Amino acid sequence: REAIVIDTDPGQDDAVALLLAFASADRLELKAITTVAGNVPVAQTTTNALRIRDLGGRGDIPVFRGAERPLVVALETAEFVCGPDGLAGADLPAPASEAAPGHAVQAIVDLCRAAPDDGITLCPLGPLTNLALAFRLAPDILPKVGRIVLMGGAVGLGNITPAAEFNAYVDPHAAAVVFGCGRPIVMFGLGVTLQAIASHDQIARIGRLGNAAGKAVHGMLTRPRPGGLGSDGHPMHDPCVIAYLLWPALFEGRDCFVAVETGDGPLRGRTTIDWNGRLKRAPNAHVVATVKAHELFERMIERLATLP
Ligand code: BDR
Ligand code: CA
Repeated sequence: REAIVIDTDPGQDDAVALLLAFASADRLELKAITTVAGNVPVAQTTTNALRIRDLGGRGDIPVFRGAERPLVVALETAEFVCGPDGLAGADLPAPASEAAPGHAVQAIVDLCRAAPDDGITLCPLGPLTNLALAFRLAPDILPKVGRIVLMGGAVGLGNITPAAEFNAYVDPHAAAVVFGCGRPIVMFGLGVTLQAIASHDQIARIGRLGNAAGKAVHGMLTRPRPGGLGSDGHPMHDPCVIAYLLWPALFEGRDCFVAVETGDGPLRGRTTIDWNGRLKRAPNAHVVATVKAHELFERMIERLATLP
């Protein structure tokens, strides 16, 4: 089993990613969920992570609350996409329990230090603030990080701005730290995640699974999405990260050099992907470009069916 930490800002697609991880305990040892400000402020992303943990019946997995704002710039959130509480459509009760004591960044450091070399996979699904802070606080943990599989950036157009994808835009300085950290990175940017849209038939089948998880996912995937950024339907950006851990053969990409724009102009948070190797720089990420979306949702539905 692969030992993973999910760093997240739920967010509907984050919620589906967490549920997929819960449903994959045979393959993934989820050590902790760490929360960050992003889609909504961190108090709410933490509450949401706890609500999803309850939904999945996984009270055994600790949730640690993390950074409340980006490293340098002010926090910008996305309630206009994900609703006032970040989980519009899920219809979940308040959490049954609280977050674990201690800061998410310290939890990441402690979990990495306790692991063997290459022993932890970090799965960030939101702005990269917690990871950047952990790498600066404790650079000794870097050899423990086997790989970072992240949702962020874009090969082509952005969603929150013409140039930038939301997670990279919200904390561009943290993204620059992470892309410069020297550990293996698998990047899921918008080019691939906008392909991850379930069909009407698949969404209907999720609603008929008959479990609470299926009901919540169906609610999130069918709610009206007036603020939807650059796509019809509900792209499952963040679940691609977990799906890649489970079924890498569904995806194709290329090793590339990726640069993150940290300036405050219209390119803020832009990820420049040197797809054709023009810059002659060593690749720092495997940039995923395509997904077999129908197959991905077929497999995801099978897994969601096993949840409470
Ligand atoms: C990313 O932004 C968030 O709103 C989603 O949860 C996803 O992580 C997509 O740009
Ligand atoms: Ca997210």
